[in-house]
Parts: sequence; structure tokens; C-alpha cells
Amino acid sequence: MFFGMKRFYLTTAIDYANGAPHIGHAYEKVLSDVMARYRRARGDEVHFLTGLDEHGQKVQKSAIANGVAPQTFCDQMAEKYKKLCEDLEISNDDYIRTTEERHKKVVRQLLQKLFDEGEIYLDEYTGFYSQRAEQFLQEKDRVDGEWPADFGEVVEITEQNYFFKLKKYQPWLIQFLEDNPDFIVPSFRQKQVMEFLKEDLNDLSISRPKERLEWGIPLPFDVNYVTYVWFDALINYISAVGFGEDGFEEFWPVDYHVIGKDILVPAHAIYWLIMLKACDIPLPKHILVHGFWTSSGAKVSKSVGNVINPLDYVKDFGKDSFRYFVTREMKVGQDAEFSHERFLSRYSGELANDLGNLLSRVLNMVGRYTDGVIPAPAGADELDKQLVKEFETAAKQAVANFDDLEFSVGLESVMDFVKSINKYAETRAPWKLAKSESAEDQDLLKTTLAHMAEALRLVSPLLNPVIPSSIGKLQEHLGVPVELRNEQILNRPVWEFKLTGLPVGEKVILFPRPEKS
Ligand code: MSP
Repeated sequence: MFFGMKRFYLTTAIDYANGAPHIGHAYEKVLSDVMARYRRARGDEVHFLTGLDEHGQKVQKSAIANGVAPQTFCDQMAEKYKKLCEDLEISNDDYIRTTEERHKKVVRQLLQKLFDEGEIYLDEYTGFYSQRAEQFLQEKDRVDGEWPADFGEVVEITEQNYFFKLKKYQPWLIQFLEDNPDFIVPSFRQKQVMEFLKEDLNDLSISRPKERLEWGIPLPFDVNYVTYVWFDALINYISAVGFGEDGFEEFWPVDYHVIGKDILVPAHAIYWLIMLKACDIPLPKHILVHGFWTSSGAKVSKSVGNVINPLDYVKDFGKDSFRYFVTREMKVGQDAEFSHERFLSRYSGELANDLGNLLSRVLNMVGRYTDGVIPAPAGADELDKQLVKEFETAAKQAVANFDDLEFSVGLESVMDFVKSINKYAETRAPWKLAKSESAEDQDLLKTTLAHMAEALRLVSPLLNPVIPSSIGKLQEHLGVPVELRNEQILNRPVWEFKLTGLPVGEKVILFPRPEKS
């Protein structure tokens, strides 16, 4: 039994190992990372998991096409996906691969338990099978009598398989969702699940005969079969945190599980929840469902072939620019269009001009006018008070938005405040005050620089979850002492001119003009 403090446990979908990472994979990790960093800033002990889904037909096929053994292929893909995490500065605490023994052991254990309890049975089944979707299709999947092209080649097959008694849990699941209306975020996604549950569920085939598929976890009770990839993959969220061992409750249940809209129904909202229930494992607290990135209106995907390589953007504009763009551009839950023009416009407008130039200005002016030391304010008139007030409103708003997982909206209010700092500077024109000999103007200059520096100091923790390395640089160059960079400042940001008397660092360009754009 675990008696300590439970961690804030955050998980993402695990990516298929059958192709290179694209913006969809990158986005999900950035979104989750922003959540993880934000929760840490709020004082939570976060445990953040992501990983790779390595079994199944698609992976076996890709390995064959590449002329290597599936395990070798997965090892190569794992390097790529882990590199993506590093390149995007994802702060995951663990990375699970479904070919790891710690995972396979739990899958076998749960399959055996469900089999022993009669929740899994052998039956003969004839049906239409889509290799691409790795599932048997139902008549209702047809569109105008045809199988949609998304399913690829569909063939009728008869085979014996093991089935999990999904159907009998349908009334329980409906009740659970009715009792927990906030379970799936955004709520319109929960309504979709309820809609889906209006139709009767079928039991789920959880095995694949070895002659059809070898690359999977063998069933512990029948060596002629391997486990259906979803029944294996969905276990990763518990196998990674030591299901069945001491300390599991330190992590489980997961606080937020982040996925894209395509794998909510039936995989996560139906199979996963029922699997957990059947195994007597507590359910997740929330599922957060994001939309799709599109390119010229079509879902970005390997099969469509319109893949946007996030790493190209990281290379040309830096990881934070990519993180900023996707967080700012996509309202969590809705789809968003990835366009190069939008990217450029946000990059040069919001990051390079509004934020980057503001820091340069402050560093420059403090360097030239006050000997590189941030001055104390020499008073505060209406304009200064207004800036402080605007900060308080923006910070409150942003924290409320971030708490509600509305990162795009929260960022907008933070960046609007950054614009306000620039407007404040334009109105005051400290560069003109600096030229004046009058004591009054010299005081106003100090007041202005003190306010600008304090505004930047206070705004920085609010941007830190999204653009951590740029904010690290900003704080360093602005001379924010390490103990004041404390992210817990999010809890109660107070305007106190804490940088007074401290030297600023070298000049720096946070978001340089890219070589090619
Ligand atoms: N392996 C399964 C998930 C198993 S979870 C036990 C899978 N993998 S995936 O590689 O296809 O997708 C991984 C995640 O990326 C999913 O949450 C998916 O929704 C997301 N995205 C894939 N393409 C996407 C976009 N174009 N846009 C945004 N995210 C999308 O599904």
C-alpha cells in the first residue's frame, strides 16, 4: 500500500512505430509537455509518460518492407521518436516501448486473469477484415455499400479467435459517463461517445492467429495466437508505472490522458475503460482529446502523404518557435491548419518583434542609460499603474485559462500583455527622456525602465511552460536571480520591482531572423 503523496500522472497516446514522426505526433507531445511544465510550476509532482506502440501488422509490414527484423526496425524507430522528444525539449519522465519486458509481463498477467475469470472466450468468427485498420469491420462501416478507401484492402475471413466480453459492460460504461460528465475534455467529445454507445457493442476479438501475424505478444494461454495490438498497447499506461508492484498507487489513476480525436472511439473511450473495469483497476480521471492538424484542409498523415516535418521548423526557427506556434494556433479540441505563412507571421510578429525586441530594448536601454543596472522606480503615475493593472488582469486570465487547459487563449492574453508593455514604452519614449537633462525626465526614465524590467520578469513564468529555453535565456540576460525564477510565482505574481539594483547581462536576440523563410 502506498501512503505518500500521489503524483500528477500525465500520459499520451503511444506512437505507431511504422513511420517517421510528423506534426501530429509532435503536437501531442508539446501539448502534454506544456501541461506537465505548467503543473510542475503549480507545485505538483508530475510524472509524464509517452512512448512507442511497436506490435501489430503495420509495424511487421514496414519492417519487412525495410528488409529488417521487426525488433531491429522498432529499435531504429524508437531512436527517431526519442530524438523528436529531445529536439522539442519534451520533459517526459519515462518513455515506454511495448516490446519491453516490463510491459509484456503486465499484458500477459492481465490476459491470464481475464481468461481465468471467464471474461475472454474462444469463438469462430467470419467477417470483413481491414489490414490497414487492423480490425474486423462492421456493416455500418460501409459507405454507400462500399468500404471507404481509408480501410485499404478489405477481405472476408473466417477464423477462430479469442473474444473479450465487451458488450456486457455497455450499461456500466453508459452509467459511468453519465455520472462523470466532465470525464472527457472537451465535453462535446463525451457526447460523441454517448452517441456511439447508443448502438450495441460487440465483443472484441483480442487475438490474431500466428499464421496471419507473428509480431505481437503471444497469448499466455494459447501459443498459436498473439495479442491484438490495441489490447496490448492500451496497457502501457499502467505497465509503465509498475502495475502489480508496490508504489503503483503513487501514480495511478492517471490524471490526464492526452490523445487525438481518431483514437477516442472506440479504442480509449470503450476498449480501454472496459478493460480497466474488468480488471478491477481504477479508471483515469480525465481524457483530453485534441483535434487534427490539417494541411490545405486534409488531415496530416502518412497515408495521405502531406506530412509536415516538425523538425524542419525546429531546425530553421528553433524548438520554442515550433512549440509556441502549435500551442498558440490550435485551440485544444479543435482542428487547425498548419500553414507556413501563419507560422512566419506568428514567428516574426509575436515572438521576434513583440517579445524578442522588447527584451533587446530593455537590455539596450538599461545598458546605455543606467550603467547596466536596473533602476528603482522614482514614482508611478497613471500610465504605470495601468500597466500593473493590465498585468494583474492578464496573469489572472492566463492562469484561469491554463487551468482549464485552454492554452491558446491563455497565451493570447499573455502576449497581449507583452504588446501592452511595448505600447507603454512607445507612449513613454524613454529614449527621448534619456536625452533630456531635467531631473523630472530622468526620474521618469528610471520609472519606465523599472516597470519594463519588472513586467518582463513577471510575464516570464507564464510563458515558461510553452517556450522554456527562450524564457531561460530571457531570465538569464535580464539578470533574474535563480531563486526568483521559481516557477511557483504563477501562484501569486506580485509586482515588487525585485530586480532593482541588479545588473543585466549581455545583449541577446531571442528569435533571430531565420536564414531562409
Ligand atoms: N499507436 C496508436 C495509439 C495507441 S495508444 C495505446 C496511434 N498511433 S499514431 O502514431 O497513429 O498516433 C499517435 C497520436 O498522434 C494519436 O493521438 C493521434 O491522434 C495523433 N495524431 C496523428 N496524426 C495527427 C494529426 N494530423 N494531427 C494531430 N494529431 C494526430 O494512433
